[in-house]
Amino acid sequence: MQIKFESVNHIYNANTPMERRALYNIEFDVPKGQFLAIIGHTGSGKSTLIQHMNGLLKPSSGNIKVGDKVIKSDDKNRDLREIRQHVGLVFQFPEYQLFEETIERDIIFGPMNYGVSEEEAIRRAHDVIQMVGLDIEMLGRSPFNLSGGQMRRVAIAGILAMDPDILVLDEPTAGLDPRGQFEIMEMFYKLNKEYGKTIVLVTHDMDLVAKYAEEVIVMNKGVLTIKGTPKNVFKQVDLLRTCGITLPIPSQNYYKLLERLNVDVDNLPLTEEEFIGQVESLLGGGE
Ligand SMILES: Nc1ncnc2c1ncn2[C@@H]1O[C@H](COP(=O)(O)OP(=O)(O)O)[C@@H](O)[C@H]1O
Ligand SMILES: [Mg+2]
Repeated sequence: MQIKFESVNHIYNANTPMERRALYNIEFDVPKGQFLAIIGHTGSGKSTLIQHMNGLLKPSSGNIKVGDKVIKSDDKNRDLREIRQHVGLVFQFPEYQLFEETIERDIIFGPMNYGVSEEEAIRRAHDVIQMVGLDIEMLGRSPFNLSGGQMRRVAIAGILAMDPDILVLDEPTAGLDPRGQFEIMEMFYKLNKEYGKTIVLVTHDMDLVAKYAEEVIVMNKGVLTIKGTPKNVFKQVDLLRTCGITLPIPSQNYYKLLERLNVDVDNLPLTEEEFIGQVESLLGGGE
């Protein structure tokens, strides 16, 4: 299952005084199994972009292909139901959408709505609760007595119970403490590496991009401005600055260090480990 954007434009409130163009000729694809990060300043179009991946928003023009199905503007979109099963979209603060009395009922709601039997849905609930790192014992409990991070995992478990191939996440670490952020990111990493899920992650945290993403898209004012590996994207410091994006902390520190030493930047480190490695070779090189 692959996602392909072909000249996608999106205009909110077209032909009204409130008209607002949010996406300009977006073209890219997400291969199966990729861990993709989407970054960009607030208002750059990230949320608009990802809502096209499961047809929650339709393009004003252009197509989005999901596997062999297509989302386009003029369509009756008979394919949407199937697409939504394959592409699980997790909104910002998904825990606000929990509503059932027990965690189990919340998790089985989506699959049962899609015609999965109660028995099968409950079996899936047992699987996915563990996939998100929570205990099976919790299934009978209320989702509302959990911590913020746990509630968010229950909400994500509800999406996973649909058994999507692709998981699209809009700022899933927002508002969590550092430990909650770490745990949830490790969970996405595992879903990607062990369960083969394609991950599309919108985030403001460049250190997470450096650590987890295989590919990065930079949005700026509705335009896909840079696409590449984290190494290649974070090298483009001047362009990133015009997009309102800062570098990962270790990269920033490396720049500061080399400025002091009056040495040109070569092989920019993105993570703490890479930073230490680079500093070691700088020191070693001076011997
Ligand atoms: N429902 C909406 N109606 C009208 N304009 C919107 C709506 N949602 C977003 N926009 C506008 O579209 C642009 C992109 O927004 P959005 O996709 O939410 O950006 P991001 O997620 O990167 O912060 C912004 O100018 C925003 O104001
Ligand atoms: Mg957004």
